[in-house]
Amino acid sequence: MKNIALIGFMGTGKSTVGAELARRLCLRFVETDAVIEEASNKSISRIFAEEGEKAFRRLERSAIQAVTLEDDQVISCGGGATVDPRNLRLLRMTCRVVLLKADPRVLYERISRGSSRPLALNLKAPEDIARLIDDRRDAYAQYDLCVDTGICSVEEAVEVIAEWVCSQNADLENLRLELDTPLERYSVVVGSGILSQLGSEMRACGLEGKSMLFSNGTVDCLYGDRARQSLSEAGFHCSTFLMADGEEYKTLDTAVQAYHACNELSLDRRSTVVALGGGVVGDVAGFIAGTYMRGMNLVQVPTTLLAMVDSSVGGKTAVNMPFGKNMVGVFHQPRLVVADLDTLSTLTLRDYRAGMAELLKHGLILNPALLDFLMSRREILMSYTQSRDMVWAVAHSCAVKADIVEADETEQGLREVLNAGHTVAHAVELAAGYGRLRHGEAVALGIIAETDAANTMGIASDRCLEVVRACFIPLVEGLSLPDLDASSVCQAMLSDKKKRGDRVFFSVVEEVGTVRRGVEIDRDVLREAVARTLAGL
Ligand code: NAD
Ligand code: GLY
Repeated sequence: MKNIALIGFMGTGKSTVGAELARRLCLRFVETDAVIEEASNKSISRIFAEEGEKAFRRLERSAIQAVTLEDDQVISCGGGATVDPRNLRLLRMTCRVVLLKADPRVLYERISRGSSRPLALNLKAPEDIARLIDDRRDAYAQYDLCVDTGICSVEEAVEVIAEWVCSQNADLENLRLELDTPLERYSVVVGSGILSQLGSEMRACGLEGKSMLFSNGTVDCLYGDRARQSLSEAGFHCSTFLMADGEEYKTLDTAVQAYHACNELSLDRRSTVVALGGGVVGDVAGFIAGTYMRGMNLVQVPTTLLAMVDSSVGGKTAVNMPFGKNMVGVFHQPRLVVADLDTLSTLTLRDYRAGMAELLKHGLILNPALLDFLMSRREILMSYTQSRDMVWAVAHSCAVKADIVEADETEQGLREVLNAGHTVAHAVELAAGYGRLRHGEAVALGIIAETDAANTMGIASDRCLEVVRACFIPLVEGLSLPDLDASSVCQAMLSDKKKRGDRVFFSVVEEVGTVRRGVEIDRDVLREAVARTLAGL
């Protein structure tokens, strides 16, 4: 059963109601505070006293990342847990969220009777509580059900929530998250068998008019008809444009052919380009949607693991140029992303593992609990089997990416963390020749080489390098690149679009969950690290 998360101010009864609700529904009961205490081996008061609230909030974030990877739980969250919108996103994505509330005077009564919570010490009157609740209004504004425990008993609150839960649709498999950027607000829907809902999802987000399914022959043969049927059932007039299959066709020439098709089909700015395929299709379709008539609607329907966990979310679109990868492009956010994991069943093992590289990268740099989750499931790491675990892993990956994209949509700073491994990766792709390596394979090589170099420079710990090797080497083992040498890779790096003047800056992993941006790596150190990485294949 989908989790139930209890949120709300301290004293609203999250622990008492939560424990009883879990018993009643035969679910596990988890308190985020208890998870934090166990992980840090310290009481909450001691964490506040010795490390301060900021450190506590970091631990709380990790605890929420970890517990939301499981289901069948009632999760009682700390009163301030949802102040961080990233936590709220994870809870909304994986749980039914129930807000418990009560009048500040009732809460004051309860809290002054003996709360040991550190923040309770500053609450000396009901007005202090009312003020703090008001400060946190955004944190308590999004929920599926609200129960006032000031006017009902614990038993009554449990009864109301249990009845409501039982009346809900058991839509466990589909996970949905919302992205809100200055350019666009959109949903990412992750699930199994949801391609048939494409048209209705597009209608639900207000799209109408003409649509152009943008794909390649490989994917169109497999999933084109299902997508077209869904679109026509929802009343969309749909035409199709197929580009040639392969990274080597991610070019301006392909884009020009597509512009002609848009013109012949009389598409206009209300029309929608539906990108059905992997990252190549998504990047080119996005580029067309972002530039034709200065912008049409875009819907991403990723069909590779890489596109599901990375390229379909965040609005980066581009084509390659002879002098560098992704050198011409625009930021253009989709209006909707629909990721149907059933499509992964036809993906080659090689492409699946390439996508796993980006998924592991998101865990490595932003969600250590996700990394552990993946590494402890070797079977989903190396080949696709339909499972709830993969649905949740993909959704968590989209969620960490969403956090970064919302904070820095056009990569003015923070978003650079997502480029970990990518400077070497893009150079490897250019030096090897586009289309020879999967992008995810190049990313795996890039992360290994960049972390190796960062380790030599004393930035990445030995432990971090060990974890990186354990995660990424299995994804590229057996690749044969005898003609690729470290010097040509380093030479290709000089055309990276992230360079400033002739200086190249890297985002390198220091520890699992921590990335340092703007690192300049000594050329000899980097060449040796790339050489070691290539020699290790
Ligand atoms: P891809 O798009 O080339 O797909 C790999 C292969 O799988 C192709 O032959 C494709 O036709 C086939 N395929 C796709 N879905 C399939 C399915 N369900 N069943 C069978 N075959 C299927 O490669 P990719 O790894 O998905 O994407 C790589 C591209 O993504 C690169 O160009 C990279 O630069 C880009 N990228 C973009 C971003 C971004 O933020 N925009 C992020 C990461 C990567
Ligand atoms: N794939 C890197 C980014 O989207 O920023």
